[in-house]
Amino acid sequence: MYDFGVGEMNPFIPLPTSLKDGIIESVLDKSPYSSQQGISELRQAISFDFKKNFGLYYEPDQICITPGPKDAIYKALLALIDPDSPQPQRVVSFLPSYEAFVAMPLLITNLPPLNLQTDENFYPIPANFKKLLNERNDIGVVIINSPNNPTGAVYPPRILRELSEIIKPYPHIAIISDEVYRVHNFTEKEFTYDSIARYLPDQTIVVGGMSKEVSGTGLRVGFAAGPAHVIKAMSLLNGHTCSCINYPTQVGYTKFLQSDTDLMERLKIRDILNERRKLILELFSTLPALKNCILGNADGAFYLFPKIDYFYGCTTPHGDIIKDDIQFSEYLLIEGKVVVLPGTYFNRPGHIRMAYAASDSSALTKGLTSMNNVLSILK
Ligand SMILES: Cc1ncc(COP(=O)(O)O)c(C=O)c1O
Repeated sequence: MYDFGVGEMNPFIPLPTSLKDGIIESVLDKSPYSSQQGISELRQAISFDFKKNFGLYYEPDQICITPGPKDAIYKALLALIDPDSPQPQRVVSFLPSYEAFVAMPLLITNLPPLNLQTDENFYPIPANFKKLLNERNDIGVVIINSPNNPTGAVYPPRILRELSEIIKPYPHIAIISDEVYRVHNFTEKEFTYDSIARYLPDQTIVVGGMSKEVSGTGLRVGFAAGPAHVIKAMSLLNGHTCSCINYPTQVGYTKFLQSDTDLMERLKIRDILNERRKLILELFSTLPALKNCILGNADGAFYLFPKIDYFYGCTTPHGDIIKDDIQFSEYLLIEGKVVVLPGTYFNRPGHIRMAYAASDSSALTKGLTSMNNVLSILK
């Protein structure tokens, strides 16, 4: 099986040693309850890391540790949305999007998010966003995710600035900037980073964590950084739901951040992923059947979101006609043993999502060759 489905590098890229050692030392020593906001050493380390490596300024009391980044997004939404507001507050999200951005607003408000499609590069279209904000007075939260899952797009600073200028006249609107892939930005040879938090710090909650930066998906530590009153509410939510975050993992993450002060370990992971990305892009441009897929912007995270509707109407060797991205994905799975996710799952039909973090160059080449072979025999 060639697995391009799973959105993680674990266990194919190992955990940093300092992180593992920190966890082990702590387990051998103690594993107590800790502050509902997260241990202060970790919040200090994250504060330092933000300042030194990302140019953002958060005091430790503006940072809350959570059981993973997804939990941080959920608790941020709970903290930001007032269920007693006379008019339900709506969440805006850009499509295609991570599935949780649809499920969480539904869970909290009973209403789906207001979705805006992005352009062919998978960038938000500022004019459409401005129109939505002008037309409606019920918008409470805007979710921005760059580098993006499922597309791999990295929003250019120009787009982030434009979005921030559009939101600025609405100080009651909060932004959740989901930056779990912030290190995996391949737009420049040197690492570059931008965040809407730079332009609207008082309205933005930045979400991050160790899941995608350091192969730590199963360790379940994330964080949110933003205005202290929102962080305080999120910490209270921690206290009432999970009590506190896994103590040894917090110690491990602290030790890791204290040793990776120059981002070197994380950038090494970025470089490995970038090599995989370059290989997959090369295979898409050389293998004859794959040339018919249209690749959008894939400058970050570890995803590709090719447009595959060229193959609609083609007949498989069993006589089935491919009608949509779900059937296309099933065909790749059954005939080619290639796992991909249909774009429909992310609200952009006609595409597939391919995650390339969990495959080395040999697996990537074999998987894409298999995909090419089964697409070549379609009639
Ligand atoms: C954009 C985005 N945000 C948040 C998360 C959540 O990460 P975790 O499941 O480790 O909490 C993911 C995971 O795939 C993601 O892709």
